[in-house]
Amino acid sequence: LNVLAVASEIYPLIKTGGLADVAGALPAALKPHGVETTTLLPGYRQVMQKLGAAEPVAEFGDLFGGRARLLAGEHAGLDLLVIDAPHLYDRAGGPYSGPDGTDWPDNAYRFAALGRVAAEVARGAAGHPIPQVVHMHDWQAGLAAAYLTYAPGPRPKMVATIHNIAFQGWFPPTLRGALGLPDHAMDMDGVEYYGGVGFLKSALYFADRITTVSPTYASEILEPDGGIGLDGLLSARAADVSGVLNGVDTEVWNPATDPRLPARYSAADLSGRRDTRRALAERFGLDPHGTRLIFGVVSRLSSQKGLDLLAEAVPTILELGADLALIGSGEGWLEERFSALSQRHPGRVGCFIGYDEDLAHLMQAGADAILVPSRFEPCGLTQLCALRYGAVPVVARVGGLADTVIDANPAALGPGVATGVQFSPVCQSALETALRRTAALWADKAAWARIQQNGMAADVSWNASAGAYAALYRELVGNI
Ligand code: ADP
Ligand code: GLC
Repeated sequence: LNVLAVASEIYPLIKTGGLADVAGALPAALKPHGVETTTLLPGYRQVMQKLGAAEPVAEFGDLFGGRARLLAGEHAGLDLLVIDAPHLYDRAGGPYSGPDGTDWPDNAYRFAALGRVAAEVARGAAGHPIPQVVHMHDWQAGLAAAYLTYAPGPRPKMVATIHNIAFQGWFPPTLRGALGLPDHAMDMDGVEYYGGVGFLKSALYFADRITTVSPTYASEILEPDGGIGLDGLLSARAADVSGVLNGVDTEVWNPATDPRLPARYSAADLSGRRDTRRALAERFGLDPHGTRLIFGVVSRLSSQKGLDLLAEAVPTILELGADLALIGSGEGWLEERFSALSQRHPGRVGCFIGYDEDLAHLMQAGADAILVPSRFEPCGLTQLCALRYGAVPVVARVGGLADTVIDANPAALGPGVATGVQFSPVCQSALETALRRTAALWADKAAWARIQQNGMAADVSWNASAGAYAALYRELVGNI
């Protein structure tokens, strides 16, 4: 079964968040299920630099304002189709925004191009086997659904996956013509969304099936608070909406073999974790020989992640005799907030503002607990990495966090199945209660060790979920 995945980022070529991890890990996980995936992505400067040998397989005389080529290549075991369109993608900055952090002004064209080329590939351009399923990830891929629907002739089956419904890809209605959409596309039964062109709306309206990255988030987005404008459409299509939990790449995230760590360890022998913990403490200016509980954070700094609540709760962490180490980058006000906290509390609060994968691995391997106080979280990968690395996740009970961590309440502690700590509602006082509960568990070494072992034994791989996607594809195309 052939699938064309369409994504705006993919690990290890370009990553701003978990979407890249998912797009990068799913193809290999699907292979044993008889699913061959090719992934289409934009040829950002970073991608072109890393791609290596690639073969031109199609040309476009005018792809939204310039010539473009489609390149077929392989990288880290991934089959890729890359859109080489310098006028859209060859620039310094991120995939979605420039160096100053503001969105690229031509994002409508940059990601319409992704959808347009996806539709061409799905109809036989690129001399590529025609995919049976086109799998669109998030709004950036969403216009593929409209282009495929409005083109004459048969189209493949389409799956839309929502990684984060807060990003919807809304653009002014005046762009309709330039985007190559017919007049009638601006109807309610088209791409029209709050009077403009909705890229995610396009995916959600036209796709044969809609998935999101956890069962709890799948129900949250049917409600106004979670659906943020798309709950009506999603509720009308509720029978086609399902949640499939993300996994992590258990080769990239394996404490027993991880080359990024100063020492390696496993659930059976945690002694190496003493060294990784010491290395983390040194790196963040904390006491390397201390026994204080170290809370860690690896996160985009955005209001989604609830880290402003954590900043407010820092006095509680200090009162509890615990330390905090944070790696994050994103919104300036949060970056400044945590930098200031680390300056005010040297030796107790350490922070690294920036994006650093080696350090993210060290955090998971060195922190005692990993905090994820998100206001909403479609799935979340950091708590999965934490489970695997023996850091106890302390999470808000929302979305995928609710589905992947077993709270250490009496009902779970008794039979010994707890893997972390959850709190609800998402507010400062509930977070502080969770911090206190975590400190109390830390003081009970036997309970802590049990929770840590349970977490490390949890299956955070793609095994089950790859099977679920494969079954979904098969159901759509008829059992082949
Ligand atoms: P989201 O996609 O919403 O940011 P996820 O938890 O799904 O959240 O995925 C985040 C991914 O990005 C994880 O792989 C995490 O390790 C990584 N990450 C986040 N912030 C940083 C950072 N500052 N440095 C390195 N890796 C980071
Ligand atoms: C989004 C979500 C995150 C999820 C990731 C991958 O970035 O915020 O919760 O894990 O996508 O699906």
